[in-house]
Amino acid sequence: MEDTLTITDNRTGKTYDIPIMYGTYKKYGAAIRATDLRQIKFDNEDFGMLSYDPGFGNTASCKSAVTFIDGERGILHYRGYQIDELARKSNFMEVAYLTLHGELPTKAQMEEWTHNITHHTMVHEHMKKFMDGFHHDAHPMGILVSTVAALSTFYPDAKNVRDPETRKQEIYRLVAKMPTISAYAYRHSMGLPYVHPDNELSYAGNFLNMLFKMAEPRYEPNEILEHALDVLFILHVDHEQNCSANTMRSVGSSLPDPYVAVASAAAALYGPLHGGANERVLRMLREIGSIEKVPDYVKRAKAGEFRLMGFGHRVYKNYDPRARILREMAPKVFEVTGKNPLLDIAIELERIALEDDYFVERKLYPNVDFYSGIIYQAMGFPVDMFPVLFAIPRTVGWLAQWQEMLDDSDQRIARPRQVFNGYDIRDYIPVAKR
Ligand code: CMC
Repeated sequence: MEDTLTITDNRTGKTYDIPIMYGTYKKYGAAIRATDLRQIKFDNEDFGMLSYDPGFGNTASCKSAVTFIDGERGILHYRGYQIDELARKSNFMEVAYLTLHGELPTKAQMEEWTHNITHHTMVHEHMKKFMDGFHHDAHPMGILVSTVAALSTFYPDAKNVRDPETRKQEIYRLVAKMPTISAYAYRHSMGLPYVHPDNELSYAGNFLNMLFKMAEPRYEPNEILEHALDVLFILHVDHEQNCSANTMRSVGSSLPDPYVAVASAAAALYGPLHGGANERVLRMLREIGSIEKVPDYVKRAKAGEFRLMGFGHRVYKNYDPRARILREMAPKVFEVTGKNPLLDIAIELERIALEDDYFVERKLYPNVDFYSGIIYQAMGFPVDMFPVLFAIPRTVGWLAQWQEMLDDSDQRIARPRQVFNGYDIRDYIPVAKR
């Protein structure tokens, strides 16, 4: 058996043998190089065959060892470790190290990593002035995107992206400063003074401190909520070649500094079809308002009036494993916060949708955003902050994808082709004659 694909061009009768490539195992799928199709020509004038794939439905844009998803079976691994095991046994800082370095850290590596992250949490005082310029009701995601981009002007050396030491430094800074900027965006919108990072607290604990500390001398995060946030962060670290990771790689491929690349990835995340969906789920559940109104709402979604937010996924054609973890975690959070009344509406919506032919046939299951918003809201986060809460841990994934892209000799500047369907040459007509 040969690892090639034989293609016959029925226009010319010619056949072509195209090599097949694999990832680590054959079971993870095979691919052909799209450029191998270019030799298929109708005649010498022909440009050559392209593959047409809007939205990258079946195109591997890279080789990657970071995250593995089996969407049919609802499986998600980071660097070979199962997501539910990481959520149960690990913590965000360790998972962040794993994602960026490929291996779990030793005790010494973990201490060094934690030290480096906690010592880069402060932002320059001028950055605060920059943030002060935003309107009081500015969406925190807009503030986050612009402020992260603005960091580029504070660290001019960051553009040396080929230098591993510089890269390491910028990764520390970005992972460390994302919660600080996010918390300041929140405090700004609330008209509250900024709270400095407390480096004695965990990553999630310090974030809660910067958000919610009031007049108390020292903020003590509630352990259950701190743990829940840590798990939420783990679940959002990476998700292979999603819209924002693809943006990070695409923008990063022209070799700008990582601040503007992360800002662009965060902008991609902001949209309602990606990380903005958690915010929309909450608004949808509020709009439904009561369990009795769920059937009618589902009917309207089926009629194409709108989509059920938090349902469906390009890759998962089964229950999103992250949504399952969150569904199980929600009651523990509610023991502290009191139950979010929207949970009952969400559970009923899930029940009705999962029994309905429309959703069954299309394999539309709840995704991570379906339950995350209900938990965030119970924890006291305003709805506007939900995509920001997604962006903080996802920064780790973006940076892992970015590093992998820079170290991959196959990668060049991202530059897709098109199938041109416009006019051929036309004669210019002066305006008086049009
Ligand atoms: N509600 C109702 N119908 C849906 C939904 C939904 N949420 N999602 C997909 N469909 C239907 C869609 O109308 C289409 O039906 P038909 O074949 O009759 O035209 C079919 O299912 C396939 O949909 P698609 O748009 O081709 O699927 P896609 O892979 O391009 O889109 C998606 C994936 C996530 C954008 C989409 O499912 C969606 O819009 N979901 C709601 C938004 C959401 O929850 N996004 C969060 C995604 S998970 C976290 C993240 O990645 O950020």
